Parts: sequence; C-alpha cells; structure tokens
Amino acid sequence: MDALDGKTAVVTGAASGIGRALAERFGRSGMRVVLADIEARRLDEATEAIRALGVDAIGVRTDVADPSSVEALRDAALSVFGAVHVVCNNAGVGDRSETLDEWEWVMGVNFWGVVHGMRTFLPLLVDQDEGHLVNTASMSGFMPAYGSYAASKFAVVGITEGAYHQLGSRGSAVGISCLCPGFIATDIGAADRNRPDWVTRPVEPTPAAARRLAAIVDGTAAGLDPAHVADLVQQAIVDRRLWVFPNPEAVEAQRARFEAILAGVNPPIRPTLDANGLEVPDRPSS
Ligand SMILES: NC(=O)c1ccc[n+]([C@@H]2O[C@H](COP(=O)([O-])OP(=O)(O)OC[C@H]3O[C@@H](n4cnc5c(N)ncnc54)[C@H](O)[C@@H]3O)[C@@H](O)[C@H]2O)c1
Repeated sequence: MDALDGKTAVVTGAASGIGRALAERFGRSGMRVVLADIEARRLDEATEAIRALGVDAIGVRTDVADPSSVEALRDAALSVFGAVHVVCNNAGVGDRSETLDEWEWVMGVNFWGVVHGMRTFLPLLVDQDEGHLVNTASMSGFMPAYGSYAASKFAVVGITEGAYHQLGSRGSAVGISCLCPGFIATDIGAADRNRPDWVTRPVEPTPAAARRLAAIVDGTAAGLDPAHVADLVQQAIVDRRLWVFPNPEAVEAQRARFEAILAGVNPPIRPTLDANGLEVPDRPSS
C-alpha cells in the first residue's frame, strides 16, 4: 500500500504493547483505527488515549479465539468506517505449557486467532484489491521448543508465508507481512491476566516453567520499544515486505541452525539439566 492516510486499520491485541503501539502509529499517520482486545478496561483506556491524539478510533471488545467474535469485529469496523485496509492479527499470550488446557488456550489465541483474522478479513481485502495483512509471529517461530507458544508461532510463520505465495500467484495487490519480534518491552510476561477460567493447571509452576517465566519478564523488561516495532511494520506495509525482524541479532543467531538443517546435520544437544542437576527451561520464547 502506498498511502495510509484516510484508510482504516484493525489491530487485535491493541490494548497493550505492540498492538497499542501499532494503533497509535497508524493513527498518527492519518488512519482511522479499530482497536480490538479481550481486556475491556485497558481497551477503553487505549482507545481514549488514541482519540485524544485527534485520531478517529473505536474500540471493539473481541476474543480472537472465537470466530464469531472476529466476525463481529469486522462488522463493527465496516459499519463505522465503511471499509478496512490494514489488518494486524497481533493478539497473543504465553503460558507454562503444563496442561492440555493451556495448550488449547495458547493455540486458540496465537494460532486460531490468526486463522480467524485471515478467514474473516482477507476476502474483504482481496475483493477490493487493496490492503495489507500483518500477522504477529515471533522469533520463537524459528526456535524449536517443546511448548505451545513456539508451536503456535511456527504455525503462524508457515501460514503467513503460504498466504504470501497464494496472494502473489493470483496477482493480488494485497500485501502480507510476518512480524517476528525478539524481546520487546510489553506486558506479555503477564499474559496470565487473560487466562480464561476453563484453563486449569497446578497452582505452582514447575521450577523450569518458573525460570522460563522469569527470563521472559527480564527479557521483555530490557526489550525494544514497541514504538520502534510499529515504525518497522508501517514501513513494511508501504514497501510490501513479507518479513519484519525487529531484533537483527536474534535472526543472526538462527544462521547456524538453518545451515545445519540444509546440510542434514543433527543439532548439538541442548542440555536439559544444569550443573546442579536442575531442569533447564526451554529457551525463553517471546
Ligand atoms: N513482547 C515480546 O517480547 C514479543 C516477542 C515476540 C512476539 N510477541 C508477540 O507480540 C504480540 C503482542 O504481544 P505483546 O508483547 O504486545 O503483549 P501484551 O500482553 O502487552 O499485549 C497482548 C494483547 O493481546 C490481548 N489478548 C490476549 N488474549 C486475547 C484474546 N483472546 N483476544 C483478543 N485479545 C487478546 C491482551 O489483552 C493484550 O492487550 C503477541 O502475538 C506476542 O506473542 C511479543
């Protein structure tokens, strides 16, 4: 897309972190903005803050894991602004991956949320032959780990690249980007605040899960400013760039793994026990 001014953006997970920064970035660029999030209070605050900048914005409470909720989001956006041009499937959560419920919650938000967003909004963009879709994956989508977060992000990387080829081979003017952040300073370390009641798990995390959570909290606290990520995403929309990698050092760290895969070489085993015999958590995924 060349010009964003006067167009409409829908951003999920817009009440916090990267999503909120995206909504603000788009608003400052003259776009109308639909902020979608499951957390009503923070959604209202974020919507008011963006309106206070003079941006034409609405907030729509949405559960991206529920397809009918995402359809209602589309209908609300269309009824207020008449069209949608940029869609960011960005809402996401992390967990301890200790129970099947947790796996289902994380896959429901991080993976199915993106599928519902693509199924609901892509036909609109394709029909008007204008627009851009942004799916938020993660560098965790390239870093093998036994856990729902990495599984969900590997899936988002795959379906986003797949849709890029489908759109391109049809000659569509609609663009698509896959946002793959490393650590960014957001509230993802407190994703548990949105854990639904039906997601059961032991009260105390395993030592490995506790250390992984602590590493995520520390990593995000020292992470990049979400506003920087939003600038990169906006530029990727204008440039029709598929990959958005805000943390270049995290990309470079993947080089040896990809070379080993291409050479058919087994990766060196990562230790699962540390020098004290304690379980080492999977690499912190963000
Ligand atoms: N912060 C990082 O270091 C980092 C790194 C890589 C990828 N990401 C990804 O970035 C995206 C945004 O996360 P963030 O870091 O800004 O975290 P955040 O917690 O600050 O924001 C995530 C938002 O998603 C919302 N949300 C959660 N469940 C939802 C649901 N079912 N429906 C609608 N909204 C829901 C939350 O209420 C919150 O406002 C996520 O997909 C996350 O996985 C973050």
